[in-house]
Amino acid sequence: MHTIIADGLSKVYDVQKKRPGLSGSLRDLYSPVYEKKVAVKDVSFVIDEGELVGFIGPNGAGKTTTLKMLSGLLYPSGGSVSVIGHDPWKRQYDFLKNISLVMGQKNQLWWDLPAIESFNLAKDIYGISDSSYKKTLNNLVEMLEIGDVLNVQVRKLSLGQRMKAELVAALIHSPKILFLDEPTIGLDVVMQQSMRSFLKQYNQGGDGSIILTSHYMDDVKELCKRVIIIDQGSILYDGLLSEVIAKFSKHKIIEVITPAGTKTHKVLRKQVAEKAAELLKDPGVVDINIKEVEIEDVIRQVFAGK
Ligand SMILES: Nc1ncnc2c1ncn2[C@@H]1O[C@H](COP(=O)(O)OP(=O)(O)O)[C@@H](O)[C@H]1O
Ligand SMILES: [Mg+2]
Repeated sequence: MHTIIADGLSKVYDVQKKRPGLSGSLRDLYSPVYEKKVAVKDVSFVIDEGELVGFIGPNGAGKTTTLKMLSGLLYPSGGSVSVIGHDPWKRQYDFLKNISLVMGQKNQLWWDLPAIESFNLAKDIYGISDSSYKKTLNNLVEMLEIGDVLNVQVRKLSLGQRMKAELVAALIHSPKILFLDEPTIGLDVVMQQSMRSFLKQYNQGGDGSIILTSHYMDDVKELCKRVIIIDQGSILYDGLLSEVIAKFSKHKIIEVITPAGTKTHKVLRKQVAEKAAELLKDPGVVDINIKEVEIEDVIRQVFAGK
């Protein structure tokens, strides 16, 4: 079953145009002029139960805007979206009970309270029974290894600890869909890793869907079989991560090993056989490897507007 259907989604922001100088500023104040900024245009995709999809693109591509439309924080300027059978914008209880949005750059926990208090509050808001609350909480706390900081004021937690607590809060009601917007941003490498292994484990343990935006390819490489690549508001690719290279990279790498060392050649895909045969004619060659270009490089080229 499709849990998310986005059909021709777009979002146009009205941005106030700034006029130069003091007189400009004054005029801006009394008679503002607005420009249209197209942030997302004609975006369509479907996401099924249990999928973990990576939504990737450079800064300003439209990832956050799309997630906000999917979670009902923004009203689309065009197109339609259905999430578990709901129009997100209506923010109905049954919809809210089944989704969660975690934003790496936003704090959703009560800053002055210990995290456990925010969790308890969520229990009441979502009407979670004592027994399932206990079970879910224990499970999450164990997986995220944050049992020792539950009673510490959120403001005193490290960023990594806080993000973990954010995840507990987001998952305490066992939502069917989890939207994660740059969940590893700003975290150190160890914490990023621990976040990833949690998400992997969590995704495998249930049938909830996860959409994750990130501009760290490591997140995506480790977690997502399927990626949606977005740039300047439009989808460039939607499919298997493993096929991104074949689709966008015209080259392969031939490594030639000689006693003197290894030399690499970047060769057009269709010329690989020919070129390899030619290189092998050199009697000094011990071995050759034919490899794909690194996915990071491919994506960088895609975004460079190649
Ligand atoms: N509230 C807003 N008002 C005006 N423009 C916005 C607003 N939010 C985002 N934008 C613009 O829309 C585009 C997409 O932004 P965003 O969805 O945040 O991209 P991403 O999350 O991929 O970095 C960018 O050009 C950004 O500057
Ligand atoms: Mg963003």
